[in-house]
Amino acid sequence: MAYSDKVIEHYENPRNVGGFTAEDDDVGTGMVGAPACGDVMKLQIKVNPLTGMIEDAKFKTYGCGSAIASSSLVTEWVKGKTLDQALAIKNTAIAEELALPPVKIHCSILAEDAIKAAVADYRHRHDAHIEQPACSP
Ligand code: FES
Ligand code: FES
Repeated sequence: MAYSDKVIEHYENPRNVGGFTAEDDDVGTGMVGAPACGDVMKLQIKVNPLTGMIEDAKFKTYGCGSAIASSSLVTEWVKGKTLDQALAIKNTAIAEELALPPVKIHCSILAEDAIKAAVADYRHRHDAHIEQPACSP
């Protein structure tokens, strides 16, 4: 399988590898897996509580080059975005930017799912500290 130059570039120089303490209330953690291939992606966002903007993002991915490139790319994309803007990132945009072939589209879906999971985790944990009616199921 031939990887695009952008995939190789991110694979060789992945941005924002690492993690934050998941217990930090300003951090949201998304951990997702791809049933198709068994790859696992952990993506974390750090939110500025004053502005509501994502000020930093980190990832750890055990997976193929496309999955690593997809997570590297989205950690760059989410920085400086609001949570809603981050949720608007579509896997199709990731796949297009990285010129992923059809068999690697699920790697970009993994990255989209990881952002969504990280935002949901942040909101869930953050809102748990604010007076809220009972949790929705
Ligand atoms: Fe499954 Fe890339 S081959 S995430
Ligand atoms: Fe998570 Fe209620 S705080 S289900």
